[in-house]
Amino acid sequence: MRIASVARHAPSRVVTNEDFERWLDTTDEWISVRTGMKRRHWAADDEATSDLAIAAARRALADAKLEAGDVDCYIVATATPDYIFPATACIVAAKLGAVGKAAFDLSIACSGFIYGLTVAAGLVRSGVYQRILLVGAETLSKIVNKQDRSTAILFGDGAGAVVLEASEEDSFLGAELGADGSNPSTLFQEAGGSRHPVDHAAVDAGLQYVHMEGREVFKFAVTSMIAATDVALQRAHLSRQDIDFLIPHQANRRIIDAAVKYLELPRERVLVNIQEYGNTSAASIPIALAEAVEERRISRGDVVLFVGFGAGLSWGAVVWRWQ
Ligand code: COA
Repeated sequence: MRIASVARHAPSRVVTNEDFERWLDTTDEWISVRTGMKRRHWAADDEATSDLAIAAARRALADAKLEAGDVDCYIVATATPDYIFPATACIVAAKLGAVGKAAFDLSIACSGFIYGLTVAAGLVRSGVYQRILLVGAETLSKIVNKQDRSTAILFGDGAGAVVLEASEEDSFLGAELGADGSNPSTLFQEAGGSRHPVDHAAVDAGLQYVHMEGREVFKFAVTSMIAATDVALQRAHLSRQDIDFLIPHQANRRIIDAAVKYLELPRERVLVNIQEYGNTSAASIPIALAEAVEERRISRGDVVLFVGFGAGLSWGAVVWRWQ
């Protein structure tokens, strides 16, 4: 299996750190130093996750010179679907013109792209499908409390899409996925599901918004990124020195720096664009990959390690040889 094409899309509205200063008790300095973020994109009121996913998917299809009907299966990794059901992937596939093809969502929050790559690899390498379009797409801005300075500043909206296809040379070298759902409330959206349907009391208490134990997530993120990287490398029979590019989930610059320092990777091999996008959850890794490919930073034969973590808690890493 290989990635035939990759593309990204972000909504046009840009929210800067200075913008937040106007309505929150925060500063550009605090946000920059604590997170590495400067700007993020937020969807318009009438823009949903499928709209962003479709824009990225259209570009990926065009780059691969494919029609929507050439793809056998559509997967959307998202924590912010258009609806709880139907799956956003069904809407994406239909609007692209691929009615009748397989389509489903993958719900594992910020680890979605890593899990998605692994699921897609299983489907393509086993011969079930020839081509899969995997999109990480999010509109986190719709579910953060814009008055809560500890979460509002962190998240951005966007989408990154890859066309995966069967190929002689296999890009998928190894993976590690994991989850620990012992404490879902560490990072969750409490109301809206069957545990706590949305009602007036839930809305009055703000339970429809993202709730996060920031410090706990921070510690978990660093250790899980390091462990997942090492296990995935071991499965691929490679070592840290073999990594040409590390593309980490973009949640916090300090999380990335701490993990990279421990892994002893040179800075220039680590792709970071958090300053432009904030944390776009399942979209962050494919957006960073799309940028790197556009800038021609990645060459054929390079070993790219994707690593992420998120709500669940969940984590994962995939070792990939660029073809
Ligand atoms: N501006 C100014 N002050 C802020 C602030 C903001 N936007 N957000 C929080 N603060 C304040 C807090 O209220 C706290 O004040 P206090 O000491 O008076 O109580 C102080 O800053 C320190 O808060 P703390 O939570 O300890 O900061 P931190 O250094 O841990 O940074 C995060 C906070 C959220 C940036 C950090 O914990 C983080 O990135 N965690 C991981 C989050 C993540 O990755 N989530 C997504 C996973 S996919």
